[in-house]
Formats: sequence, structure tokens, C-alpha cells
Amino acid sequence: MTVGIDKISFFVPPYYIDMTDLAHARGVDPNKFHIGIGQDKMAVNAKTQDIVTFAANAANTILTAEDLEKIDMVIVGTESSVDESKATSVVLHRLLGVQPFARSFEIKEACYGGTAGLQFAINHVTLHPESRVLVVATDIARYGLNSGGEPTQGAGAVAMLITKEPRILTIDDDSTMLTQDIYDFWRPVGHEYPMVDGPLSNETYIDSFQKVWHESNRRHERTLADYKALAFHIPYTKMGKKALLSILEDETPEEQERILARYEESILYSKQIGNLYTGSLYVGLISLLEHAEDLHEGDRIGLFSYGSGAVAEFFSGNIVNGYQEHLHQEHHQQLLAQRQQLTIEQYEQLFADNLDTSVDATFEDDLPFSITAIKNTVRSYRV
Ligand code: CAA
Repeated sequence: MTVGIDKISFFVPPYYIDMTDLAHARGVDPNKFHIGIGQDKMAVNAKTQDIVTFAANAANTILTAEDLEKIDMVIVGTESSVDESKATSVVLHRLLGVQPFARSFEIKEACYGGTAGLQFAINHVTLHPESRVLVVATDIARYGLNSGGEPTQGAGAVAMLITKEPRILTIDDDSTMLTQDIYDFWRPVGHEYPMVDGPLSNETYIDSFQKVWHESNRRHERTLADYKALAFHIPYTKMGKKALLSILEDETPEEQERILARYEESILYSKQIGNLYTGSLYVGLISLLEHAEDLHEGDRIGLFSYGSGAVAEFFSGNIVNGYQEHLHQEHHQQLLAQRQQLTIEQYEQLFADNLDTSVDATFEDDLPFSITAIKNTVRSYRV
């Protein structure tokens, strides 16, 4: 029996800023953001849109009434949770209308949480083949106005349905995991923004990739030639490329060109969105699946997941015949095309206009599942 990703889709909020505008406003050469960082646009959300809103919209795109009856587990991976105790997945379970006899919980380990959820789901379906598990990776990546991390912000969610005999990507039992206690990026309780050691985070990311890549190849007796493509956690699109280049030195020019061409296909959506933290690897996977033209049944795709702090995992899956029919390419392209561009002034206003859950209030926002009210610190969502 195979187990893996049967359905997958992402959602991003309806606003963005252009990175040229941000560069001008910050007195930086725009090439630093477009070429040095590798980002063209950055997703921005209003205060009435949070990780629950993103998660519900992403999941709503892929789930049928039959899925809602058969899902028995809802897992949310996030590092921008709205509650220290109650899991986002419990709210999501209600908003989506999943049958009641389900397990719902939230996982945290920086940007790695979505992968932890995916692997938990795979183990569950392997033991209970009739189960369907909803895994959502949802986050708001914020470092603060004028901060070093500002050009690497973003927001949104990826939803995946994990089943037996999946129709998009089977996931192999070949994970190589790595844990290292490193303070490269962390957010102490009560802090609005993360603490970041940018250079250390870049260094740890590359070092972690090299370690799990070489160890995985040693354990499974594989080389780059066994992979049709590699998808990376993408905090900004230049980051994955730097890690990829670090293992290409001994490869032939043809091999380098082949794998770098797939990498470019995997970053097309992220360039327009920015960092999704837990969802970034999976936006990269969606971009690859929706843009690569010569993926065939059985092709092996390697996936590198990285969560600062730091946990990394390299694992792989195989393309399923007919996978294209189960993607949502048109929906994703429309979602990005229909976004409203904000001026930097508008972005800064939205940024400063934080949701205050200590004050009861009502809100107007047309976005499906947006926040309609705060009462006694509880968020109400449009259903
Ligand atoms: N034209 C072209 N390129 C230019 C340029 C110009 N005019 N000016 C600068 N650049 C290049 C630089 O040469 C550099 O390229 P290399 O990295 O290839 O040398 C690149 O632009 C970035 O320049 P800096 O290193 O000077 O940029 P910075 O000091 O402003 O910091 C950053 C960049 C560290 C990524 C910062 O934005 C940051 O801290 N971001 C948040 C942390 C992060 O995303 N870390 C990634 C790994 S951690 C992770 O993956 C988990 C997660 O999701 C957070």
C-alpha cells in the first residue's frame, strides 16, 4: 500500500507589496531584494485575516463532503499560533465541518511543524488505511518594519489531504532527520517578532541540508541522479539555491543544469508570496508540480524541510501517474493575479493596525472565513 499526498493547495491573503517599492522606501538597491534575496512580491494580510482564515481557505479548496466524513485527524503546523493552549485545528475542524469523531492538534517546531504533521499523518494512515488526514501548514511571517528580515516576510497556508493510494505524490519511508540546539531564529513567549541571527540562520540551513543530504544518500545508496527534482523550505528563494549549489560542485554541468532548472520551477510561487514558514516547502512542491513539464510516474522528488532552532529532515516521494488532473493550478494563478497591490504607506498602516483581542469589536471583511468579531478575547469567523 502506498501513502502520501492525495490533494494539495495553498492560500495567500489578498494583498501584496512589490519588492521594488519596499527597496525604494528602505533606501536599498532593488536588485538586493530581486536578485540578492530572490523575491519579487510579498504577501500581506489585514488584521481580520489570521492563520485560521488562511488554513480554512486552503483546506476548503481541496475537501469534498466525502472527505469531511472520512477525515479522522486534523493537524496544524504553525509557529504563529493565536493561542498558547487551544489548537488552531480545533477551530478549523468546526469551520470546515469535519465529522466530530476526529483527533485535532497543533504542532510547533518553527518552519518544520508542517513536515512533522505530514509524517504523523502518514504513520496514521499506514496503520489505519481507511483514514484521511488533513494537514495544514499556516503562518504569518513577520519580522517588523525596517528590520533585517523585513524583505523575507509573507503569509499564507498550505493544506494537504493524506490518504492511502494518493493521486499526486507517494511518500517513502526514507526520512533522515537532524536535531541541533541552535539559536538562529526563535520567538520567546510574549515577543511579537522573532529574534533572528540572520547569518547564523543561513549557515545552519545550509549545514543542515548538507548533513541530511549526505546521510540520506549514504543510508539509501543514492546520488543526485536518483532525483528528478529537489524541493526546499524557501524562507526566500535565494536560500534554497545557495544550499543546492553547495552540493553541486562535483556534478557534471549537465546534472547541475538539470537540477537547477527544476529548482527554478519550484520557486515561481514563492517569489510572489515570500515566506510562509511551515508552508514554504509545500508551496515549493506545488510550484514544481504545477510548472515542471517532464515529471513522470515514479520520478523521485526529494524534499528538504528546515525549522530553525533547529530541526531538519530530508525525505522523498514518487510522482503518481495522472497527478496533473488533481492539481489546482488555475485557482492558484487566479489567487495571485487577483491580489491588490498596496503602497508601502498602506502596508505600514496595515502592519501597525494589530488585532487587539482584549477589546470586544466587530469587523467587515469579505474574505471567506475572515474574522467578524472579537468577544471576550474569542475570535469569531465568517462561516
Ligand atoms: N544586487 C544584487 N545582490 C545584492 C545587492 C545588489 N545591489 N546587494 C546585496 N546583494 C546580495 C548580497 O550579496 C547577498 O547575497 P549572498 O547571500 O549570495 O551573499 C544577499 O543580497 C543578501 O544580502 P545581505 O546578506 O547583506 O542581506 P541582509 O544582511 O539584509 O540579510 C537575511 C539577509 C539574513 C536573509 C535577512 O533578510 C534575514 O535575517 N531574514 C530572516 C531570516 C531567514 O530567512 N533566514 C533563512 C534561514 S532560516 C530559515 O529558513 C527558517 C525561516 O523560514 C526563518
